[in-house]
Amino acid sequence: MISNLAAKYNAPVPRYTSYPTAPHFKAFDDDSLYAYWLSDLDPSKSISIYLHVPFCKKMCWYCGCHTKVTKQYDPVGDYAKTLRAEIRNVAAALPARFKISHVHWGGGTPSILSAEDFKSVMAVIAENFDYTADAERAIEIDPRVVDATKVRALAEAGINRASLGVQDFNPDIQKAINRVQSFEMTAGVVNLLRQNGIEKLNFDLMYGLPLQTTEDVARTIELSHQLNPDRIALFGYAHVPWMKTHMKMIKDDELPGTEERILQATCAADHLTELGYQQIGLDHFASPDDEMSVALDNQQLRRNFQGYTTDAADTMIGIGASSIGKLPQGYVQNSVSTGEYKKRILTNKLAAAKGITVSADDKIRCEVIERLMCDLSVDLDEVTEQFGQPVTVFDQEIELLKDFQKDGLLTLTGRRLTVTLEGRFLVRSICAVFDTYLGSGAGRHSKAV
Ligand SMILES: C[S@@+](CC[C@H](N)C(=O)[O-])C[C@H]1O[C@@H](n2cnc3c(N)ncnc32)[C@H](O)[C@@H]1O
Repeated sequence: MISNLAAKYNAPVPRYTSYPTAPHFKAFDDDSLYAYWLSDLDPSKSISIYLHVPFCKKMCWYCGCHTKVTKQYDPVGDYAKTLRAEIRNVAAALPARFKISHVHWGGGTPSILSAEDFKSVMAVIAENFDYTADAERAIEIDPRVVDATKVRALAEAGINRASLGVQDFNPDIQKAINRVQSFEMTAGVVNLLRQNGIEKLNFDLMYGLPLQTTEDVARTIELSHQLNPDRIALFGYAHVPWMKTHMKMIKDDELPGTEERILQATCAADHLTELGYQQIGLDHFASPDDEMSVALDNQQLRRNFQGYTTDAADTMIGIGASSIGKLPQGYVQNSVSTGEYKKRILTNKLAAAKGITVSADDKIRCEVIERLMCDLSVDLDEVTEQFGQPVTVFDQEIELLKDFQKDGLLTLTGRRLTVTLEGRFLVRSICAVFDTYLGSGAGRHSKAV
């Protein structure tokens, strides 16, 4: 039944890691608006930093991220230099010295940076900012490109959480996605991290990969469980070969269909729940004592460009090529090309190339979408009251949601919407009802399921 509904609602929709979503950002003439937004931030509130490293040693065919392959270290070393310059430039644009509650290194492969370069960038952050007492300092790790020296450097630089890219442990699937990484290699890196005191560990797994079956997903979960990560993200492979041409290396006829994808995701969720993980939002699982489970229970879970987060800061500053930042005034995105990014940092000082000022209407819709993505439930009366809007603001959306309600994907009690167990797969399509930008031309997304 759910596969029939998936067919009905399977129009392409965003992942709602922001609202408005990135395809609706507009080119900036210069960096003056971003400079003004930074200068106007409130120093009594802590902020977060996201650093993007758009380099990998080898391309994974499934990869949907901004990255490029480099065989040489020189471009990476040069990039680390630009990151240091950008951090100094951003700090100079702020009205005071700020506290940081979260640092997240993403990619690409941030663990591609040498031990020295990694420590030097972290040192520049520490020179210009203070950390809150419980600050999280996280990094995405490709287990194929770290060794003992690098893991020691991460620990010395203060990293206290690591996400390991795993995807699937079946060697045939690994060949089909151009990412061969044995269980022993992943286990070795997990041990190294724990020996060095980096104990909070996440695994990234995927379903919907070429050649993948429900049994493969189950086996990957069992093997992952042997290594006992605190969090598991289980992403549905988003196949967008028109945007990422390397995805054409994945044969369409080797991809599981919608029904099989739903089966893989459902079985995986059941399996992970039986193993004691709490299901979080669309695609995350966490042990019950992990901060993410606690945030979910307290309705404090947030959604950002990295997916689900416990980060409560209203400001995230994006550092590095293609990085997206979120400020109370709006979103900004740095130049995507590393050459253009470097030129901007060396000349303009700030690298923001595009962005969007958020309106009052964007803010209230962002709140509704964020609560739906995180809690799978939202009380529209509470939200309209919080934003000082009449309760009738979303009457048109409620009308449109009646179809989802009839199909058992959603319950409506007064103005409280609750996504049902079956509706969880289609939560992005439910959020899309509140998206006034969708259909305005920009962007082409992956299918809902
Ligand atoms: C930003 S990537 C960086 C990970 C790191 N470079 C590594 O290779 O280990 C983080 C995760 O996003 C997920 N991911 C990447 N491309 C995806 C796609 N097209 N669809 C769904 N998930 C994807 C993968 O699980 C990946 O581990």
